[in-house]
Amino acid sequence: MEELSKLIQNIKKQFIPGTWDSFLKNAGRIYQKETKQIQEDFFDQLYFKTGFFRTCVIEMFKSHAIPKIKENEKNKLENPQNNPQNKTTNILILPCANGQEVFSLATICLEEKLNSEHVKIHGADLNKTLIQEAKSGKILIGNKTINDLDEYIKQGYFSKTQFPYPQPNLAISEQVQYLCKYYEHNILNQSLIKKYDVIICTNLLIQLSREGKKTAVKNLTKNQKPGTIIIFNKHYYTPPGKLYGLNNEKYGRRRKDNEFIASLDRKSTLGLKELKAPNVYEKI
Ligand SMILES: C[S@@+](CC[C@H](N)C(=O)[O-])C[C@H]1O[C@@H](n2cnc3c(N)ncnc32)[C@H](O)[C@@H]1O
Repeated sequence: MEELSKLIQNIKKQFIPGTWDSFLKNAGRIYQKETKQIQEDFFDQLYFKTGFFRTCVIEMFKSHAIPKIKENEKNKLENPQNNPQNKTTNILILPCANGQEVFSLATICLEEKLNSEHVKIHGADLNKTLIQEAKSGKILIGNKTINDLDEYIKQGYFSKTQFPYPQPNLAISEQVQYLCKYYEHNILNQSLIKKYDVIICTNLLIQLSREGKKTAVKNLTKNQKPGTIIIFNKHYYTPPGKLYGLNNEKYGRRRKDNEFIASLDRKSTLGLKELKAPNVYEKI
């Protein structure tokens, strides 16, 4: 029981208010379950909608990650002696949900003629079920999303499965899968172990309380080396001018979220410098 009250206390401290209560409403009689199972059920119900080939993410990737990979390749050619292991550029997408972002960005790399000798993309998330789906290389996404993809993407990198709904309807080609690796990681509990050249963190902080945000950003950046680029979401839209009354209720939290992400370079303990793009930082 002590374990369970600790879990509830942590969730209430780290996630936005109401997250635990809405879980409880739907979860029924949790007290008959083991704490570990309750934790997994809680993780399973977190908001996990993700996106395939989203323009904003691809643009960020093309402006900040692709140049980094190309620069690394140029250095390898010019100074082979400095790079004995012929190091690839390592990219992390956290959280990755069922891998749609990871697979999209791996495809962008292949289109740029960058393969596993040049880049590795890791996806991490606390949701075990989603990580298993991503690892399987067969994922469930909206049929409309598949139909809307450019023909060259559909033909070259993905195929439809024949499984009935709700089984996965999209099979990722081996060449895309080959660039991607997935692992479970709860960024609120543990800092990253591996060092990355680029970290992309979209739609995580909106789920967290201020306390949770601080812990997540600290754990994401702590072990990283100077030069690592960390990309967060673009600002949410909030109406211009002062917020008051209903508008404040509706947009106040979003504005605070924006301010939090936009001011990470002012938190000296993180050692981050903002690059010439909103919400993109470099570890110094
Ligand atoms: C809305 S999805 C975002 C996925 C992707 N980055 C995107 O923008 O489409 C949010 C994901 O955050 C994951 N998540 C929530 N808290 C987390 C934590 N503490 N550590 C790792 N992943 C977490 C959830 O499991 C969920 O898959």
